Amino acid sequence: MQGRIFSGIQPTHGIQLGNYLGAIRNWVKLQDSFECIYCIVDQHALNTVQDAAEMRQNTREVAAALLASGIDPARSILFVQSRVEAHSRLAWVLNCVTPMGWLNRMTQFKEKAGKHRENAPVGLFVYPVLQAADILAYRATHVPVGEDQKQHLELSRDIAASFNRRFADGFFPLPEPMIQAEAARVMSLRDGSKKMSKSDPSDMSRINLTDDADAIATKIKKAKSDSILGITYDPENRPEASNLLSIFAALADQSRAAVAAEYASTSFAQFKEHLAELCVEKLAPINAEMRGLLANPTHLDAVLADGAARADAIARPIVDEAYAAVGFT
Ligand code: AMP
Ligand code: TRP
Repeated sequence: MQGRIFSGIQPTHGIQLGNYLGAIRNWVKLQDSFECIYCIVDQHALNTVQDAAEMRQNTREVAAALLASGIDPARSILFVQSRVEAHSRLAWVLNCVTPMGWLNRMTQFKEKAGKHRENAPVGLFVYPVLQAADILAYRATHVPVGEDQKQHLELSRDIAASFNRRFADGFFPLPEPMIQAEAARVMSLRDGSKKMSKSDPSDMSRINLTDDADAIATKIKKAKSDSILGITYDPENRPEASNLLSIFAALADQSRAAVAAEYASTSFAQFKEHLAELCVEKLAPINAEMRGLLANPTHLDAVLADGAARADAIARPIVDEAYAAVGFT
């Protein structure tokens, strides 16, 4: 194994094709070469999801999606953040070695807090410190994340170094970000200039991992297209065609060029038919597996409880040691 991976995903909503192609599929592959710890970060999500039933539902749905996509609990650890105390214990210590100025520079806080900074929860401001605690509590060496998390990862390294400098040289390894390629960015089916997202009001704009075969086929058929014959990759002039082509290439594990060559003189309608078939072929088994998992919450909860126990066994001694290093007796 090449090191220890830690990554997290917020249960702010269910999982759509963009999350799957942009993040989860990569998490699945990494299991072959790293020791992997994957966390559903409900404590982070509490800044946005403030309804107990919704939090519970989203957490189970994300867990089911990860397992159905191929996260293997026999090889990797999958668990829910709030079930492992190490995260909040370490977060407090790290809060005390992180200058306000560092957090003031975080662009994501500025974006999310917007004009209502005074009303933003303090949890949103210290969010990146909890994220650093997530990673450092396991002495993780590598962290796969999207481009938008780069600044938070750099901060995690600074926080680790700040702790090490004050209390114990070399205590935390500085985690390496593994930035996932932007090439995997999936756009809305209704507007090729917008990211596919769970927060888009139109359900037709995205493919959810909970969609069945009929829903997938309908969404692809109705996806925005243009009237040019043949499918080409030209994101500037043909954003919708390019997006569908990218989705095809990602699902088929082919290059965009290969797919474009194959469909160079095909009508949009026919290309969509093939794409719908491919989507159903790749996603229907995941969908079926997810439904099975969600129908049996006792099993799902047992998998998560086992993951939490294994996560705790790694993180607790490290955080105990950090407590000793700062003089907590
Ligand atoms: P979010 O649910 O937006 O917090 O995203 C969770 C993960 O999925 C992050 O790693 C994102 O970079 C990734 N992701 C979300 N939407 C997309 C998308 N449309 N295309 C590619 N990756 C995405
Ligand atoms: N902030 C990350 C996101 O929004 C989620 C996250 C929380 C995370 N803790 C983490 C990612 C630790 C990597 C490592 O996508």
